[in-house]
Amino acid sequence: MKTQVAIIGGGPSGLLLSQLLGTRGIDSVVLERRTKAHVLSRIRAGVLERGLVALLEEAGCADRLHAEGMPHDGTLISYGDEIFRIDFAALTGTAVKVYGQTEVTRDLYAARERAGGQIVFSVEDVQIHGADTETPNVTYSTDDTQQRIDCDFIAGCDGFHGVSRRSIPPGARREFEKVYPFGWLGIMSETPPVNDELIYANSERGFALCSMRNDTLSRYYIQCALSDSPDDWTDAAFWDELKRRIPTAQADRLVTGPSIEKSIAPLRSFVTEPMRFGRLFLCGDAAHIVPPTGAKGLNLAASDVHYLYTALRRFYGTGSPDGLDGYSDRALARVWKAERFSWWFSSLLHRYPDQTAFDHRIQVAELEFLRSNAAAQQAMAENYVGLPY
Ligand code: FAD
Ligand code: DHB
Repeated sequence: MKTQVAIIGGGPSGLLLSQLLGTRGIDSVVLERRTKAHVLSRIRAGVLERGLVALLEEAGCADRLHAEGMPHDGTLISYGDEIFRIDFAALTGTAVKVYGQTEVTRDLYAARERAGGQIVFSVEDVQIHGADTETPNVTYSTDDTQQRIDCDFIAGCDGFHGVSRRSIPPGARREFEKVYPFGWLGIMSETPPVNDELIYANSERGFALCSMRNDTLSRYYIQCALSDSPDDWTDAAFWDELKRRIPTAQADRLVTGPSIEKSIAPLRSFVTEPMRFGRLFLCGDAAHIVPPTGAKGLNLAASDVHYLYTALRRFYGTGSPDGLDGYSDRALARVWKAERFSWWFSSLLHRYPDQTAFDHRIQVAELEFLRSNAAAQQAMAENYVGLPY
């Protein structure tokens, strides 16, 4: 098989890139290790920056997002019983959209299917060959038959555990990592959200987040020990702990119900540099991970896709490799700013096992500064709604 761009990974990065390239007549094939049902069963991010919304519009898959996504003009931050609001709309003139990653992915699959795009599911043993030559190829197997795709470029959109990053020789990449000493236990429940905006809560008992997918579907998270398993937490224990971490006024009106999903995610900051090796370009979680606080993971994947799509369009339109040559530096400049914001927002809101009384006073002082200082709120809001591409 031959294509212009072989895309490894059918998550949001791979699908969005394929769909955008398709709108410009650039041919691609997406290789996905799992089934479509499996990809759509994963519950992940929920907050979309304007940059991702604009890309989905350009890709022709924003109709349902506009009909069903919830614009959020601000967010609440609490510590103990204190609560304050960051007004994104007033501070930045823009808002974010609450719309689940699962729905973004569903819309992208539908768009690729409408356009006759090629997605091969359940692929095994994906291997990248000749990435540092002019004629790379990707091999894989389906039903024990080996296949090969010859291509001009390879986009590694296969997430943190994928094959793309590991295909770059260790001597040609450098990795930066910070692992946090806690995880997030998340549940989804068919209950109305406790509040019409998100609440990020710092409490003596650890972090909590009240989020949502729509008026009848809530998403809640609490900081937990890395050694915990979802089975350790009954729904009753989860609700009890959440209520103790958010202000009393909100806890009193929390509607509880059975969870329809419960899982634990570890928190990690990770970046690999550069994001390119010859004709292989890394996008999204394949190249970097942020802790979820501040909802930057999916949005960073989108900005990578924007830079790569723009560079490929330029290459196929004019023959100029300049965009491709600048891809890694351009993407990394934005990645590191989102890494900083996610690290800062995580540090502000979580309880660390080795936190001293001094560290805690500093955290409270920083929360009070954010509550009362217009410049601090401006910086937070600009980062939350998303820095420009
Ligand atoms: P992925 O979504 O990981 O997609 C990669 C795809 O590649 C997958 O479909 C995978 O099956 C496929 N793949 C892997 N290896 C291969 C291979 N060898 N061959 C072919 N295909 C392969 N972000 C937030 O902003 N907020 C959140 O609340 C949040 N929660 C998260 C919870 C979890 C458990 C995880 C893992 C991530 C979470 N994230 C969250 C981050 C966000 O979901 C990611 O940043 C986003 O999914 C990145 O998209 P991606 O397409 O780059 O990678
Ligand atoms: C969600 C996840 C986040 O990490 C976040 O900062 C905000 C919302 C969510 O899943 O809804």
